[in-house]
Amino acid sequence: MPYRDVREFIKRLEDEGELVRVKAEVDWDQELSAVFVRASKEKNRAILFEKVKGSGFPVLIGQLTSSKRVELAFERNSRELDDEIENLLNIPRNDFPPVIVERGKSQEVVLTGDDVDLLKFPVPKFNPKEGGRYITAGVSISKDPETGARNAGIYRMMVRDKNEINVNFGFPNRHMLRHFQKREKEGKPLDVAVVIGCDPAVWLCAALPLAGKIDEVAQAGAVRGKAVEMVKCRTVDLEVLADAEIVLEGELLPNTKKPEGPYVDFQGYYTKVKDNYVIRIKCITHRKDAIFETSMTGQTPEGEMEVYRYLLSKQQKAQLKKALPQIVDFTFDSASMGHIYVVSVRKEKPFVAKEINEKIWTFPWSIMIKMLVVVDEDIDVNDPSQVMWALATRVDFEKDIILNPKLQGPSFDVATAGRQSVAKVTIDATMKLQEEGYPAKFPEPGKSSKEIIEKVMKRWGEYGIR
Ligand SMILES: Cc1cc2nc3c(=O)[nH]c(=O)nc-3n(C[C@H](O)[C@H](O)[C@H](O)COP(=O)(O)O)c2cc1C
Repeated sequence: MPYRDVREFIKRLEDEGELVRVKAEVDWDQELSAVFVRASKEKNRAILFEKVKGSGFPVLIGQLTSSKRVELAFERNSRELDDEIENLLNIPRNDFPPVIVERGKSQEVVLTGDDVDLLKFPVPKFNPKEGGRYITAGVSISKDPETGARNAGIYRMMVRDKNEINVNFGFPNRHMLRHFQKREKEGKPLDVAVVIGCDPAVWLCAALPLAGKIDEVAQAGAVRGKAVEMVKCRTVDLEVLADAEIVLEGELLPNTKKPEGPYVDFQGYYTKVKDNYVIRIKCITHRKDAIFETSMTGQTPEGEMEVYRYLLSKQQKAQLKKALPQIVDFTFDSASMGHIYVVSVRKEKPFVAKEINEKIWTFPWSIMIKMLVVVDEDIDVNDPSQVMWALATRVDFEKDIILNPKLQGPSFDVATAGRQSVAKVTIDATMKLQEEGYPAKFPEPGKSSKEIIEKVMKRWGEYGIR
């Protein structure tokens, strides 16, 4: 059964032991985030903070920061997602387009004029030196002024005042930015609506880089197998989710930029203060008992990176299977934020690492990769100690490093100060063949045989080892 709203998803998470409620009051000012980080280190669960200082609204955090919770959101298991991921996320679907309804719970309360006050919501400040309180998990909706095509994306927003926020576009190809540029050329603002708290299918479609021609709300309908209901906004020419928790209606202002930041971005460092775009909020609508949804970035494996790691690696798996069948497994780990990419290969001929090195950098998503490590298939790519062992014992650093200069680097990388053209490295950590110049047969790794491991596992209880 598709989730109608974030509440139905919260209920499911609770039933599955994937969400914990905090009843004690917490401060939105750094305490909430510190509790989340500490709690996640002990057990990765979503948290619903029921009482937040100075606000009547609860806060949901971490709703999708584990593979299990992403699977629950999609209502599909890992294997089903492997099979369907391309169809769900890369092929435009219009089998369940959104339907417009007259009334929506998201408009139970309508605030305009002087009543617009963002500060009454429990917007968190996550880290001490951040420039302000941040709305990090709002789904921003806008329409292409020329074609009318809708877009939904997630862009962080710093609260500047009770009715003003900055918005941050990390890349020039962000769709809302493109919509805005068309209006700004004519000196006009762009209508926007920011949905805070919604069903997880819409949130995931907005968070993932879907192709430009895809309407994320229609795509979410296909993911759910049920159309998303939308209502007309009160003050802007847009529709929003009828079952959302909170909606900010406003205008992205032309020729206006104001300082935004610092903010701890996803690499885990403070950004510099920069002049950034500004949205003036004209109206806030919300449910009477709205739930404020947030997400935390930074060097926390429980951050939003987990959503990307899980789903993007499924997309990559499908693409790698076609282009590089010699790859057995790979890992895009959230600790290195995908910068260190490990692949294991079936090495049936020499120079397999070289072949992979030649192809991998042609995938658009390889911008994120800084170092590629190629290991043999006996190494479990998801076990860092096995990867370290391969690096330590199978690499001859005089011969096994391929340095690839002049590739495109991620613009947010602090190590390269965001340089466009960077070098990337491939390390061949496979056992070398004589054809590759190894002077003899590579020593065989000493491990128990499969048969003996199976026997031991079968008899494990008998040994009395607890
Ligand atoms: C919690 C969260 C915060 C994000 N913050 C930003 C951001 O501040 N700026 C940005 O450009 N992308 C951000 N993203 C990534 C975009 O939402 C994502 O790439 C999306 O596909 C962009 O949509 P678009 O391609 O339709 O513009 C964030 C994603 C998540 C999940």
